[in-house]
Amino acid sequence: MYLTRLSLTNYRIFSRLELDFPRRVILFTGDNAQGKTSILEAVAYLANFSSFLASNDRQLMNFSAPNEPVMVGRILGEFERAGRHHTIEVRLIQDAATNPANPRFSKQVLLDGVKKRIGDVYGQFNAVTFLPQMSRVIEGTPADRRQYFDEILSQVESGYSRHLSVYSKALTQRNALLKTLAEVGGDRAQLEPWDDLLARHGSSIMHARILALAALEKQAIPIHQRLTRDLEILQFHYQPSYEPLKKPSGQMALPVQTTLDRTGITSDELEHGLLAAYKQSCHADIQRGQTSLGPHRDEVRFLSNQIDLCDFGSRGQTRTALLTLKFAEVAWMKQRTGEWPVLLLDEIMAELDPQRRRDLLSVVGQVEQAFLTATDLEMFTPEFVHGHEVWQVDQGIVKRS
Ligand SMILES: Nc1ncnc2c1ncn2[C@@H]1O[C@H](COP(=O)(O)OP(=O)(O)OP(=O)(O)O)[C@@H](O)[C@H]1O
Ligand SMILES: [Mg+2]
Repeated sequence: MYLTRLSLTNYRIFSRLELDFPRRVILFTGDNAQGKTSILEAVAYLANFSSFLASNDRQLMNFSAPNEPVMVGRILGEFERAGRHHTIEVRLIQDAATNPANPRFSKQVLLDGVKKRIGDVYGQFNAVTFLPQMSRVIEGTPADRRQYFDEILSQVESGYSRHLSVYSKALTQRNALLKTLAEVGGDRAQLEPWDDLLARHGSSIMHARILALAALEKQAIPIHQRLTRDLEILQFHYQPSYEPLKKPSGQMALPVQTTLDRTGITSDELEHGLLAAYKQSCHADIQRGQTSLGPHRDEVRFLSNQIDLCDFGSRGQTRTALLTLKFAEVAWMKQRTGEWPVLLLDEIMAELDPQRRRDLLSVVGQVEQAFLTATDLEMFTPEFVHGHEVWQVDQGIVKRS
C-alpha cells in the first residue's frame, strides 16, 4: 500500500500542509526543528491513532493557531490499498466554547468519509515505524514492550483493539471493586461479571499474542542470522502472567529460558484457564487491591544466544535486534495482510554502522513506499539520494527538490 496524499490542518507546526506523494521512497531533509518528524508522526497516526511522541493528543494541535472557541486539527490521508483508493481522516477537536478554562477535547475518525469507531478503522492503513527512541522496546519496561506489541497487533488482527479496550475498562472496574471489598467488605460474587469479561477478552488478547509472537519469531530468526553473519540466534520469550501450559508432573515450575510452544492452545482453553485463575487469585487480589493476573501483566523478553538482551544486551546488540524486529514486522505484516506496510524511518541512519545502513536500505527498497528523515544527507550513498525523492522541509513548508 502507499499514501497518495497527506493533508494537515492545525497540526503541530503546520497550519496547513498539502502533499501529493508518488509510490516511491521520499527522503525529508532540512535543519533541526523544521517539521520532518511531525510529518512522519502524522502518517503513523493514520495507522495507530496515537502519536509515537506525544503523551496526549492535545499536544498535536498547532499552538500558534489563532484562538478560536472551537479549534479543529486534522490529518487526512489518501492511500491505495490492493488497487483501491481510500481516505482516513482524523479530526482533533478542542472545544472551549462552554468552558474556556478547561476546553473539552475529542477525536473523530472517518473512513472514506464515514464516521467510524477507531477499532473499526485499525488495519486499513498499515505503517511500520522506526525511531531512535524505539530501543526502549528492548531496554525499557514490560509496559513499553506490551504497548509495542499491542500497537502492531491492533494494526493487523481485527478485533484486537476492541478486546484491549473492553479488557482495560473491565480491569479498572474489577480493581475498584477489589479495593471496596478490602476496605468495606461485601459479597465476592460481585467480582464474577468482571472475571467473565476479563477472561473472555483477556484470552483473545493472549491468543493473538501467542500466535503473533510465534510468527514474528519465525520471520526474525533468519533475518537476525543474516544481520549477525550467523553469530546470533534470536528468540522471543512470551512470559504470560497466567501460564496456560500444564506443568509437567514432578516439576515445580516451567523452565523460563526455553521457548514454550503455546500455539496449539485454543482461545476457549485459554478463557477457561484464565477464568479459573482469576477465581483462584481472588483472595490475594482483594488483599492487594488489584488484579494480579492477565495480559496487562504479560512480559516479552528478547534473547540472543540464550542471553536476555533486555538486561544484558550491548548497545550494538540491542540496535541489531531492533532492526531485526522491524524487518520481521514488515515481513509479518505483508504475510498477514497481503500488502507491504508503509515504512517510516526517523533519523535512523545516524544510529547505524555502514553495513547495517546497507541492510536497512535493502528493506527500504522492498516496500512500495517509505518516508525517511535526515538532517544530514551524507548518511546516504549518492546513488540512494539521486535514485529517490528528496524533499526539503523548512519552517513547516515542504519543497520537492
Ligand atoms: N503543537 C505544536 N504546535 C506548533 N509547533 C509545534 C508543536 N509541536 C511541536 N512544534 C514545533 O515544531 C517544530 C518541528 O518539530 P519536528 O520535531 O517535526 O522537527 P524536525 O524537523 O524533525 O527536527 P529535528 O531535525 O530536530 O528532529 C519544532 O520547533 C517544535 O517546537
Ligand atoms: Mg526530527
